[in-house]
Amino acid sequence: MPLSIIILAAGQGTRMRSDLPKVLQTLAGRPMLSHVLECARALQAADICVVYGHGGETVPSTIGQEDLRWVLQAEQHGTGHAVQQAMPETPPGNRALILFGDVPLLTVATLTRLLEDTPADGVAVLTVDLHDPYGYGRIVRDGERVVGIVEQKDATPAQRAITEINTGVMVCPAGRLGDWLQNLSNDNAQGEYYLTDVVAMAVRDGVDVRGVKASNRIEVMGINDKKQLAEAERALQARLVDELMAEGVGFADPARVDIRGKLTCGKDVFIDVNAVFEGDVSLGDGSRIESNNLIRDSKMGPGTVVHSNCHIEGATTGRDCEIGPFARMRPGAALSNNVKVGNFVEIKKSTVADGSKINHLTYIGDAEVGAGVNVGAGTITCNYDGANKYKTTIGDDAFIGSGVNLVAPVEIGKGATIGAGSTITKPAAAGELTLGRAKQMTIKGWKKPVKKGS
Ligand code: UD1
Ligand code: CA
Repeated sequence: MPLSIIILAAGQGTRMRSDLPKVLQTLAGRPMLSHVLECARALQAADICVVYGHGGETVPSTIGQEDLRWVLQAEQHGTGHAVQQAMPETPPGNRALILFGDVPLLTVATLTRLLEDTPADGVAVLTVDLHDPYGYGRIVRDGERVVGIVEQKDATPAQRAITEINTGVMVCPAGRLGDWLQNLSNDNAQGEYYLTDVVAMAVRDGVDVRGVKASNRIEVMGINDKKQLAEAERALQARLVDELMAEGVGFADPARVDIRGKLTCGKDVFIDVNAVFEGDVSLGDGSRIESNNLIRDSKMGPGTVVHSNCHIEGATTGRDCEIGPFARMRPGAALSNNVKVGNFVEIKKSTVADGSKINHLTYIGDAEVGAGVNVGAGTITCNYDGANKYKTTIGDDAFIGSGVNLVAPVEIGKGATIGAGSTITKPAAAGELTLGRAKQMTIKGWKKPVKKGS
């Protein structure tokens, strides 16, 4: 039977106490809903429909993929009412799988098992046993048979003692689901149309209803507030780090690293504590990331070492480079092989060829630095005149003394030496020493100023 997936994402998420719709709260750097979608896509459904409402168009415009069908639930009258909005366009012959936008840690393996265990023409509910079931809908069984789901607020004390809860994930024949939803009532503690009430209706109609237990409570946790969001974040981080450790990546402490995006690692990579990876990052064989680094959308080549406390974004390195401590690599910083970038150095939109060293207190922007170049401490490429940016070119094997201003556009020839303290505004000849600074002089007999009135 073809599969239609319906994802509920219209709720406000009052308990988040946030202006951002709940399903857009981020988990590992991406909206919660994106995680649910990733899982849904892996199931090869005939169609995926997302019910949105609270927060209006911000949800579809933030998520925006074209393979989705977006259905508006203008007023949120409960989970049953939400699913109803998606029914007109769901083929009645399909099997409907309902997922919640606020249950984002589900795995493809669990959903596949649920679908396999759903009886033909029957209903299946994914459940889990919890020590503290507070807040969740309870699974009411008669012997082994599931006979209904009762919400926390509607439950009797005896029902509240039930520890098996509804994860919200449900499989139903779409046609029958549509009929049951039409008959829902909102006569309950929350005045809402509960999706969970279809279970008792199915039982009444003699439909086979199965409760399939998930093995892992974290995977099915519903996220309603910031505390649960933080708990889910830690759980997801642990999952991502476990996967990397299985691939051979070493971590000083698996609990003190954050991956907010995709981190791809080669062999023998080592990552020290408090490294944060955002977006698409790849670390080559044998690279090492020391403590307290933020690396975003960057590629570090094999053998590259990032010393402590660097901020790296949109940068690339070849093999065996060294960066930091305390360096900043901005978008377009591209180091070739064996390049050293030391402390308090900022590099933006510049290429640095093999073996060059920029070790201290320097700004390199819009520059092309050749191979074997040594840039002295306190060198600045003056790339901006307040309106436009200009390029600095430094030839191979040039030596730039300390405290030099290179006023772009400017070109330093191959093997040139620039004297310390120079301000260079014109091309510097290859192989020659160029100076651009006032001559040193001594003012004989000059008197130090004296404080007035003393
Ligand atoms: C729901 C279930 C409960 C289950 C729990 C699991 C119902 C009635 N209750 O409770 O049995 O244990 O999830 O986490 O189904 N939504 C809409 N439109 C609405 C209302 C909700 O799209 O009108 C969406 C929300 O965005 C959310 C999901 O449905 O993604 C669940 O809604 P929520 O209000 O969080 O339900 P719970 O009270 O957690
Ligand atoms: Ca919830």
